[in-house]
This record gives sequence, C-alpha cells and structure tokens, in this order.
Amino acid sequence: MLSHDENGLLTRTGPDTPMGETLRRYWMPALLASEISEADCPPVRVKLLGEDLLAFRDTQGRVGLVDEFCAHRRTSLWLGRNEECGIRCVYHGWKYDVDGRCVDMMNEPAESRLREEVRITAYPTVDLGGIIWAYMGPPDLRPPEPAFEWTQVSEEQRGVSKNWQECNWLQALEGGVDTAHVPILHRNFTANTTKGGYAPNSTFAKAGPPTVEVDTTDYGYRYAGIRSFGDDEIFVRTYHFVMPFHQFRPGENTVTPYTTGHIWVPIDDDNCMVYNWAYSTNGDPFDEWDMVETRLGRGPGQLQPDFRSIRNMDNQYLIDRVMQKNENFTGIEGVNNQDQAVQEMMGAVVDRTREYLTSSDLTIVQLRRLLLEAVRTVSDGGDPPGARSAYYKLRALDRIMPKGASWRDEMLPDMYPDSVSR
Ligand code: FES
Ligand SMILES: [Fe+2]
Repeated sequence: MLSHDENGLLTRTGPDTPMGETLRRYWMPALLASEISEADCPPVRVKLLGEDLLAFRDTQGRVGLVDEFCAHRRTSLWLGRNEECGIRCVYHGWKYDVDGRCVDMMNEPAESRLREEVRITAYPTVDLGGIIWAYMGPPDLRPPEPAFEWTQVSEEQRGVSKNWQECNWLQALEGGVDTAHVPILHRNFTANTTKGGYAPNSTFAKAGPPTVEVDTTDYGYRYAGIRSFGDDEIFVRTYHFVMPFHQFRPGENTVTPYTTGHIWVPIDDDNCMVYNWAYSTNGDPFDEWDMVETRLGRGPGQLQPDFRSIRNMDNQYLIDRVMQKNENFTGIEGVNNQDQAVQEMMGAVVDRTREYLTSSDLTIVQLRRLLLEAVRTVSDGGDPPGARSAYYKLRALDRIMPKGASWRDEMLPDMYPDSVSR
C-alpha cells in the first residue's frame, strides 16, 4: 500500500515531475530500429514520458529524435518531407537536421540569417539491439550506453518486439515482476496450450505457490520464486530487475536456451510501451522467437499497426466465457493478453492506497521502495542506481533442485556469467 502522494510521485512522468526527472537519467527505448529501417524513410511519431517527438533517419542513416512540432507555427513535422539530411515542414518549408538545428527556411529571403537562431529539442539516440534508445536527461549526466548482453549478440540470436499497453507504466511493470500470478492467471485446464498458458502437466502448474526471496543489488534487485515440486524437490525461477524498468526472466518451452525480458516505458501517464526481447544464450540462432511470441499473443498478425493488441479493452479482449469454463482460467487467448487485461482493467492508474498486499507481493514492495529512493536521490542531486551499472551480463534461470538446496549457492554464478563480483 502506498500513500496517495507516493502513488502520484511514482506514476507521473511528464517533464518537471520528480519521477519524470528520474527516468530521464536513464537510456530508454524510443522505438524499434525496424520502424525507421532505411535512410530517408517516413518519419515516426514517438510519445515518450508525455513528450511528443518525431523519429527519422536521415540521408546518411543518422537517427533524429526531435520535437514533433515545427518551431514556426507548430504544425506536426510528421507530415514533413524526409529529404537530403533533414526533415522539412510542409507548411512553410522550414527544415531541421537530426540535431534539431533549423538549416533552411523557404518563407524567408535566401540571405536571412534567422534560421541560425532556431532550434527544436533533439535528444541523443543510440541504435542498439534492434531498438533506438533515447537519453532525455541533462547532457552532462548522460550514462554509458545500455550495452546489455542481449543488445550485443547478432540479430539471428535475438528477437525484439513491442506492444502498447493502455495503463500506467508502473502497473504493467508490477505485473511483470509479480511471479505468484503466473500459474493462476495463465492456467489452462487442458493440455492444449494453443490458447496460451500453462497446461495441467506443466512444471508451473504442478508446483506449489511461491516463496519469494529478494536480494537488493546496486542495479536493482535479483529475486527467486521457490516452489515445492513433489515431495523431494523445489522448482526455482530466478529473475533480475534492473532500474528503472528492465526485467530479465528465464525462457520457457523451447529447445534453444534463452533469457528473455521486458522494458516498460511510459508513453504518458495512462499508457506505456512494453519492449520485449529474448536471445539464445548458447550462441545458436533463436529461430523460435515467432513461436514464443505467438503463444504470448503478440506474434505475427496478433498486433495492430500501432502495436496495440488485436485483443484489447475496446473489444473486451474477445473474452469467451465458454472457454473460461472449460479451457483456461480467463477465457482470453494469449498469455500477454491475459496480463494486459488484468493490468488495464485496474484503471489507467490504480489506487494503491486501497490494496491488500501479501508476502507474495514482496517484489512489488521492493520495486516501489527502490523507485522512491531513486527519486529522492535525484532530487538530492545524486546519481540514480543502475544508470551507470556494470552489470550488463545478467541471465535469468530456472531449475528443479533437491528440497533444501539454496538457489544462491547453486544458481548465482550462472546468473552473472563472466562477472568478477556480484
Ligand atoms: S509551421 Fe512549419 S514552416 Fe511554418
Ligand atoms: Fe503474466
């Protein structure tokens, strides 16, 4: 449970809000690289932390992430022409380069120097791991690039996608770090898992409810859900949460071993974009990405062009009450759609003063604590945790072990391959 003020503090991310200022100290996904894959391709509107921006790739392949609106009379540069190293407003022809500098004005005499005074906001970007990342904070405090291991492997070894979720970023992130709901919300009553979810014979379904253990680290925290599995064993899944909005989780249901994860990025305070990634951890191509995504409900053909799910709040997620009686717990197809439904139907920003948390919500409590601390650190002039972290090589694992075995003893080395310390 949070106070009304704390809830507001964590969920408001616009310019000049404390959380907005904190998030702006990190690199954050702005769009998929594939959305602007070629030089001079059509520009794309991007809303990030309540700011309306425009992304484009110029003639030399450089990425611009600029204010969406023209400095002259404020029409949208999305209508603009992406031409010869700049985006040109179609209203009166002002043209801007990737740094936001106005380089030409068609409604001014050629000898006019006025353009030299005009500049629109432009944020630095980096193209890494199939994602264009933006840094929207003070230039002198820009952290190192987000070189997580999954961003460094070849394209064949990785899958990346995104989907629009119609609720506040924190609500979606809290759903992500909540491990207790998995075999409940995502339960299947039959072995047929084409609807998404966990069949009665799956490890998840056979295991008991989790004991959750959390270790705070300098990048966020690592945690484990420990479930009893038969009389003599435990089923342990380990995860990482990296400030301020990354999760690493173990892959499932494939031949290729992989680590997967999400990044929950505020579009504005009522919407977020969830970035999804996975990469094979043995160097093999990750050919099973489309299959994994389809099972989750955001595979090819399951998202609309604006990255909203086909099943969404407007059509009640196409809930099927007969399916809910006979086939799965929710009557909704696709694991991700099931998550979205429960998270969105709390309302855009849930009232956290009215919750009733239990010990299975430990990761959520710790998440809020760390975020509130980060906000305080930034407002006191400090560096928020994780922004400069060296813990980029993180893996998440699951394992069945004898009862009494310690996940910290058995699994930590593999959760930090190549790290000298943890
Ligand atoms: S509004 Fe863009 S040039 Fe006039
Ligand atoms: Fe879920």
